[in-house]
Amino acid sequence: MRLIQAGEPAEAGGTGAATEYAYRKQDFEAISALVYDHAGITLADGKSTMVYSRLAKKLRAKGLDSFADYVALVRRDPAELAACIEALTTNHTRLFREGHHFDHFHAHVRSGLLAKAMRRSKVRLWSAGCSSGEEVYSLTMTLLGRDREAASMIGGADLLLLASDINERVLALGRAAQYRGGDVTDIPEPYRSLWTQRTADGFEIREEARRLVRFRQLNLLHAWPISGQFDVIFCRNTMIYFDEETKARLLSGFADRLLSGGYLYIGHSERLVGPATARFKSVGQTIYQKVAA
Ligand SMILES: C[S@@+](CC[C@H](N)C(=O)[O-])C[C@H]1O[C@@H](n2cnc3c(N)ncnc32)[C@H](O)[C@@H]1O
Repeated sequence: MRLIQAGEPAEAGGTGAATEYAYRKQDFEAISALVYDHAGITLADGKSTMVYSRLAKKLRAKGLDSFADYVALVRRDPAELAACIEALTTNHTRLFREGHHFDHFHAHVRSGLLAKAMRRSKVRLWSAGCSSGEEVYSLTMTLLGRDREAASMIGGADLLLLASDINERVLALGRAAQYRGGDVTDIPEPYRSLWTQRTADGFEIREEARRLVRFRQLNLLHAWPISGQFDVIFCRNTMIYFDEETKARLLSGFADRLLSGGYLYIGHSERLVGPATARFKSVGQTIYQKVAA
């Protein structure tokens, strides 16, 4: 792939697959700006090759000759903009990723939430930037616990987990709740035996866990059409792609949406920034509790 400098004319075609489409520096900058404006994701200059390789197949499918044409298409077609953002976001996730968060939740948070649910009070948890659902199902399994007792007790309780992401494709995978065979080993026992079951080519999350989760498309940069507050928010490995100003805005939003005493879990390489920092106290590794105002 040859990245042409801004101002240089676009060059049609090319010889090998890597130079198939004309790709100028200003095309990369235009795509970066669109992705930043709509998803908050910053694409450093070093991502130029990644952008080319992930989007070239879209140009091919659309019969376009250059990235300039693709930028024009993305600007006029919201569906193509969504597809472009989906192609450029990282959805990597894993069941029980950063396991210390689930250990903390089990040891310090779970019993309080179950007691609240037993009192028929509303209990709400949110996995923001949930990708294909592994995070929210890990949380659900931990909440349901290591025997079937809690699951039967909370049968009629008002307890729900919201799982949101910008990307409809990964949300569909989360709703399907079916995963590849090897990944099941990421689930510690007895959660694995209790809350998953085998399928022909892998395993699926059992109905007792699935029925507690609601998957919704939600862009964290836009208004959040969510009523009420949360007991727990997981937003892990998502803020990492945002700039400091966006992170600060997001964290203030999470502080507003958490109940006093509610918990925020963030990714291993993330940290609190901005005014919201003063509204939390640290209670563990990348775990924060909202302090009373
Ligand atoms: C790397 S995954 C993290 C998944 C999970 N939280 C974890 O830690 O394993 C980041 C997710 O954030 C989502 N995302 C990126 N920008 C977003 C935005 N502006 N609004 C909502 N979700 C976004 C991506 O689609 C992706 O699924």
